[in-house]
Amino acid sequence: MTRSVLMCRPEYYRIDYEINPWMRRANAVDGPVADRQWDSLVTLLRGSGVDVLLVPQAANVPDMVFTANAGVVLGRRFIPSNFRFPERQPEAGLFVEWFEDHGFQVGTVHEPHYWEGEGDVLDAGDAVFAGFRFRTHAGALDHLDEILGKPVHRLELTNPRFYHLDTCFFPLGGGRIVYYPGAFTAQGLALIETSFRDTFAVPEVEANRFACNAVVAGRSHVILNSGCPATEAALQQWGFTPLATPMDEFIKAGGSVKCLLLTMDSFGG
Ligand code: ARG
Repeated sequence: MTRSVLMCRPEYYRIDYEINPWMRRANAVDGPVADRQWDSLVTLLRGSGVDVLLVPQAANVPDMVFTANAGVVLGRRFIPSNFRFPERQPEAGLFVEWFEDHGFQVGTVHEPHYWEGEGDVLDAGDAVFAGFRFRTHAGALDHLDEILGKPVHRLELTNPRFYHLDTCFFPLGGGRIVYYPGAFTAQGLALIETSFRDTFAVPEVEANRFACNAVVAGRSHVILNSGCPATEAALQQWGFTPLATPMDEFIKAGGSVKCLLLTMDSFGG
């Protein structure tokens, strides 16, 4: 359950380059619609009791809105990412500056491997799960093991459309997982099945609508993209209240609800 997040208002959000299979420069963002979708997400988060902190966007980093990739927060410590693509690398310094200004201690243990923060490293309560291959190098996870102080289970990602773990894997706490089987190896699927008590395998059509890229907000709300009825039904069966909100303008860049926030209170922090 998330109580505090860092987000970035989409002031300069655009599709300027193509670094994942969702992005097409020709498929331009509709600015006013993106603003409305982002505002609605913030309203739902705040209405669910989540504290939303804001970092200002710089003009040269259109993907900075996806704050999940900034790094991970451990209590009052911030461990910054090492972005894979040069297009996103200038974000790192901007996030570090924000965390320093807000009194966080900043670590640098990720060198020399690339890794993309909470996009690929998710806290599931007793254990941490980390995705690797497309944006996080497996070697980076050795360094993370040392600092997270929890076992880190590795999951190799196999499908370039699901290039970050948070696009296909959504731990809800209490032994529950929503995930997309088409994004993992047979070994990864076996690990998921044995690690969680209640599992919901998202159908492909809803995985493509980023059903897994969701957040538990407050006690029992789950905020996710609209158009995922099977996932919503599964969430209801588990006693959650799904709050669906359109995120299409962000899916143009390969992200949805979860990508747009960095949790400030994960990893036992
Ligand atoms: N366009 C961004 C990229 O490719 C989207 C990032 C989505 N973030 C996430 N946590 N899945 O880097």
